[in-house]
Amino acid sequence: MKLIITGATGFVGKEAVRQALHNPAVSSVVVLARKPLPQDTPGLDEGNAKLQWVVLEDWTSPYSETVREHVMNADACIWSLAVTPSKSREMDFAYVTKICSDYTINGLKNMAAVANKPFRFVYVSGVTIERDQSKSLTFLADYRLMRGRVENELLEFAEQHKPNVQVTVAKPGGIEGPGVAISTAAMQAVFALFGDTPTIHVSELAAALIDQCLNGITEDPLWAKELVRIGKRVLRDDGGL
Ligand SMILES: NC(=O)c1ccc[n+]([C@@H]2O[C@H](COP(=O)([O-])OP(=O)(O)OC[C@H]3O[C@@H](n4cnc5c(N)ncnc54)[C@H](OP(=O)(O)O)[C@@H]3O)[C@@H](O)[C@H]2O)c1
Repeated sequence: MKLIITGATGFVGKEAVRQALHNPAVSSVVVLARKPLPQDTPGLDEGNAKLQWVVLEDWTSPYSETVREHVMNADACIWSLAVTPSKSREMDFAYVTKICSDYTINGLKNMAAVANKPFRFVYVSGVTIERDQSKSLTFLADYRLMRGRVENELLEFAEQHKPNVQVTVAKPGGIEGPGVAISTAAMQAVFALFGDTPTIHVSELAAALIDQCLNGITEDPLWAKELVRIGKRVLRDDGGL
């Protein structure tokens, strides 16, 4: 499988790249990033024959011929590029929308045009993100509804292009990992408002995302409980990647 990953310098994307590079079923990993490969990242190595690190400068226009060649014949994408809720508070909302929405929709369209069929697009979102635009929300309303519209648009695109394009949305709550502690009790209480939302380890999340790309999308959305179940199963079966 040829796999595209965005958000590869971030918490989730970095682990997805690490696992994908170790997974024998993944033949090629194409990272789209705004910056060159960081030199000091353990597990990421320019010499790794499976890894193509592509710097994309313009995320909202048709991809250049060079970028199209890199993503051509891809089988799947894990899109973990976004401005997180906490970072969004310090940024201009129009710019946050451009990054979270325009980059993502443009990405799917450009990739799907040259990808293999079916092309699986696994979008990393969050449990608090709201698809129902008629809802009146009590916190982070603009952000949560904006990202809900992104989910809706991605799913609509897949519906219009089925069976060639398949989309699912991963909606974890708290994510823990190296250097990132388990979510606070206050955060867990917020996530609990959205149903059974166990904290997931980033290794389990990445394993579940890659599994959906490799073996097929099983459902949408993928809530935390299901992500934990898939991730634990994959890590147990593969002996930890
Ligand atoms: N972390 C959590 O606890 C958590 C919980 C639930 C859901 N999620 C969701 O999971 C997804 C990934 O979160 P994360 O924690 O991995 O976020 P993160 O660590 O902040 O990483 C965000 C990624 O997006 C990229 N990015 C941001 N702005 C960009 C821009 N203007 N141009 C190009 N790339 C840009 C960053 O690249 P640069 O390094 O170049 O900035 C980075 O690779 C998000 O959708 C988030 O909402 C996260």
